[in-house]
Amino acid sequence: MDNQKYFYIETWGCQMNEEDSEKLSGMLKNMGYAKTEEKKKSSIIIFNTCCVRENAELKVYGNLGALKALKEKNSDLIIAVCGCMMQQEGMAEAIIKKYPFVDIIFGTHNAHMFPEYLNRTRQENKSIIEVWDKEKGIVEGLPIDRESNTKAFVTIMYGCNNFCTYCIVPYVRGRERSRTPEEIEKEIMELVDKGYKEVTLLGQNVNSYGKDLVPSFSFADLLKRLNNIDGIERIRFMTSHPKDLTDDVIDAVAECSKLCDHIHLPVQSGSSKILKEMNRKYTREEYLSLVNKIKAKIPGVALTTDIIVGFPGETEEDFSDTLSLVSEVEYDSAFTFLYSTRKGTPACEFETQVSEEVKRERFNRLVEEVNRACAKKNKEYEGRTVKVLVEGTSKSDDEKLMGRTETSKLVNFAGNKNNIGKIVNVKITKAQTFSLLGEEI
Ligand code: 5AD
Ligand code: SF4
Repeated sequence: MDNQKYFYIETWGCQMNEEDSEKLSGMLKNMGYAKTEEKKKSSIIIFNTCCVRENAELKVYGNLGALKALKEKNSDLIIAVCGCMMQQEGMAEAIIKKYPFVDIIFGTHNAHMFPEYLNRTRQENKSIIEVWDKEKGIVEGLPIDRESNTKAFVTIMYGCNNFCTYCIVPYVRGRERSRTPEEIEKEIMELVDKGYKEVTLLGQNVNSYGKDLVPSFSFADLLKRLNNIDGIERIRFMTSHPKDLTDDVIDAVAECSKLCDHIHLPVQSGSSKILKEMNRKYTREEYLSLVNKIKAKIPGVALTTDIIVGFPGETEEDFSDTLSLVSEVEYDSAFTFLYSTRKGTPACEFETQVSEEVKRERFNRLVEEVNRACAKKNKEYEGRTVKVLVEGTSKSDDEKLMGRTETSKLVNFAGNKNNIGKIVNVKITKAQTFSLLGEEI
């Protein structure tokens, strides 16, 4: 008989949430559980939620409702809900009222307490709701069960101080808190020992890394320090706020060999009027001159971005400023979002909301423009030989391999499976809109 107990974890949202799930998974594996993709087989089901846009929340509700039948069949099943959605005022209470079969609710600041909550709910046989509104210091040294064994996310700071008027993140993730350079360096050295080749440094606004440390420590100095770690081959970082991306960081990317030539630089809108309403603290012109500076200092750099369509007050003219900016910058790729009203944020109260119909129509036009720019960028790779970190077999064809270039382009190619986990030379034979095809040489 199989005595193994399983857990299932579903994650919505950004890489921060993914990393939190990897930590929850690490804690559960330490307790003897194994991970499964089957809810039916599990004794613990965790939903790690996101609240950045409304549709992320709607998905959580739908999935939670569907768990009722499972819980009725198996009363030992523990259902836990956590993540950003739970940090919203009144949300935890609303969830337990609507879904009384939920056993544990916790937030982003107390995820490390999960094993304790698990024991408590079993012993006391009642639901536990515990959402901290502030982190009590950064908890280091949690076990972590990573998705990949070639590349890893490493959070360097938590929270955000920017309060863009559309965004819920500062309310649910709290103020900026940086990990020490020593802890970050130690984590990366441990990753190298386990065979990892690439790390992505994570933070809502990595450019303000270290401002809260005593003494302060700049992001550029952190990058230079990490670049000296033997054995790590690629270092990426995200997200950069354009208002804080300083010359020393651009110079570090240009000079340090392990720092990938890729910058994720969310613009959000191409209209200075809308940027002001969004509280982004830069104009279209300032953003474009920053882009030109980056392109001049880092030849061949890949630029990616986030764009919101239909922010309150966005006119056709404002939207066409976004379209023209996309065409001028020639992004390598862009995440495009329909503006979603988030209760508790200033923009939710703005009276100039744009209709869903207009938002959709602009969104479609934007996606076309973005795809055109991406396809053009990818075309430039045809015939070139690039270095690819091989992540595994290709999703669409397991005879082929897949990996990414330094500029974060996805490449599917014919090659030697023994090279999984290594960096190889690949000749690009054909460009597609979202990926490249090639062969190992
Ligand atoms: N509506 C739509 N998109 C949003 N984002 C953040 N908040 C909202 C919102 N209310 C987008 C931004 C951000 C990305 C992570 O999510 O573009 O950069
Ligand atoms: Fe949200 Fe703005 Fe902070 Fe990014 S910088 S997390 S968009 S408030």
